[in-house]
Amino acid sequence: MAFRTIIEPFRIHSVEPLRVTSESERRELIAGCGYNLFGLRSDDVMIDLLTDSGTGAMSRDQWAALQRGDESYAGSPSWFRFRDAVQELFPFEHVIPTHQGRAAEEILFSVVGGAGRVVPNNTHFDTTRANVEATGAEAVDLVVAEGLDPAANHPFKGNMDLAGLDALLAERSKNIPVVFMTVTNNSGGGQPVSLENLRATREICNRYGVPLFLDACRFAENAWFIRQREPGQGDREVADIVREMASLADGMTMSAKKDGLANIGGWLAMNDPTLAEKCRNILIRTEGFPTYGGLAGRDLEAIAQGLKEVVDHDYLQYRVRSTEYLGEGIVAAGMPVVQPLGGHAVYIDARRVLPHLSPLQYPGQSLAVALYEAGGIRSCEIGTVMFGRSPDGTEKPAALDLVRLAVPRRTYTQSHVDYVIEVCVEVAKRAGELPGYRIVQEPPALRHFTAQFEALA
Ligand code: F0G
Repeated sequence: MAFRTIIEPFRIHSVEPLRVTSESERRELIAGCGYNLFGLRSDDVMIDLLTDSGTGAMSRDQWAALQRGDESYAGSPSWFRFRDAVQELFPFEHVIPTHQGRAAEEILFSVVGGAGRVVPNNTHFDTTRANVEATGAEAVDLVVAEGLDPAANHPFKGNMDLAGLDALLAERSKNIPVVFMTVTNNSGGGQPVSLENLRATREICNRYGVPLFLDACRFAENAWFIRQREPGQGDREVADIVREMASLADGMTMSAKKDGLANIGGWLAMNDPTLAEKCRNILIRTEGFPTYGGLAGRDLEAIAQGLKEVVDHDYLQYRVRSTEYLGEGIVAAGMPVVQPLGGHAVYIDARRVLPHLSPLQYPGQSLAVALYEAGGIRSCEIGTVMFGRSPDGTEKPAALDLVRLAVPRRTYTQSHVDYVIEVCVEVAKRAGELPGYRIVQEPPALRHFTAQFEALA
């Protein structure tokens, strides 16, 4: 690139107003919802970095595609356009549309899961783990050691621990219905998986006769990292890399709310006709007829168009570079982040930003609240609040206390990102004064969504 400024490879066609609030107003608003950022009305948030899921902006061509949506119950042309767009990148025989990623997971694991079964994954996303465990099966995370160290700099920290996978399969392959690979590895910091590691994983799966599935939510970002970082891949089309990733797998689950560039949708796909038949039968009972699944015809059209746009190199260059730019700014503001920077989010190491707080004083929550109070930024604690409470009722520190700033696709401009960085500089200056928190009310499970907090004196 000849210039340093990341120009967004689009111009703005329709705008959404963003309400500017004052710090005193925000202090009242966040106190009013017990210091839980999930309790805020999104109108009271200036820059919403809670998630990159379903929060992206659709293109002109996607909005136009909505008008082509054909709402026929069976065999709609929108379904065929959707199926063809999926198979263009992921040439699996059977494509099963669902309303979002977790519905695809629920259907698949209710067929292949069950007590005594084990599902390995580089790292399960929360809903994936929950859907495995809901069937009585065990979810095992097997990411490489570098993937667990926030400071380790490795180009493919999402890679599978091959020796660990081999050992698990040697011992229990009879009870392993599928091996999963999450690309990029969201729970591990949005870190990519290399083609080399996927090939080696495939080879191990072949040896034990176990199918390999992709949790492909952020497949295009993963392929872009492969193009940038993997030897010999620099001249390839991203769409081609994606097809090679697909060729190494037997099926996939997908949330179109990420790299489908849509606000809703997902799918399950596979080559095995017997498995597909079982999954379709559940689909009909829970989501809908197999040519629309959980979606309207117009949603199928938006996704079909999104899949064409997401593999565009100018888009991916902008996408990954702007996340990296946000991360570089936060590091320069004095806040350590998970390295290297991932594709969809920056994860601040809150324990290192607020060393005066112990994990049970929730440094991630404290930092997330401070970012909101100071600048109206909504982020998400991924730490002791989210993971600290065990099913037996005891509480212990999570492995890490992170704050995730997830970047919606095509939604914010570089000046919004500059604003976020400025707020981080301000919060870093006050870091020593930020209070710890205690929980005054929490539900029995998934407490981070609704817990109520109080600042410690
Ligand atoms: N797999 C991964 C890797 C995900 O990141 C998500 C969602 C899902 C599956 C489930 O998809 O939301 O369409 O049901 N991640 C969002 C996030 C919610 O904020 O990271 P879904």
